[in-house]
Amino acid sequence: MYVCVCNALNEDQFRTVAIQHPDASVEQAFAILKRAPDCGSCLDFAERVMKQARDNPPADPERFIP
Ligand code: FES
Repeated sequence: MYVCVCNALNEDQFRTVAIQHPDASVEQAFAILKRAPDCGSCLDFAERVMKQARDNPPADPERFIP
C-alpha cells in the first residue's frame, strides 16, 4: 500500500528505513529514500508505519528488505 502518493513510496520502504535507521525521523526517512515531502498529508501515516515497524521488528531483518 502506498504511504506517500506524491512520491510513490510504499509501506515496505518506510518499514525498511525504520529498521535500518532506528533513529531516523519521517523527514529523514524521505531523505534516505532520496525524496522530499510535497503535500505533507502522508507524514502522520508514515510516522505510524515506522513506529509499528520498530515496535514489532521482524524476526529476520534481512527478510524485511525488499
Ligand atoms: S502524499 Fe506524501 S507528500 Fe503528498
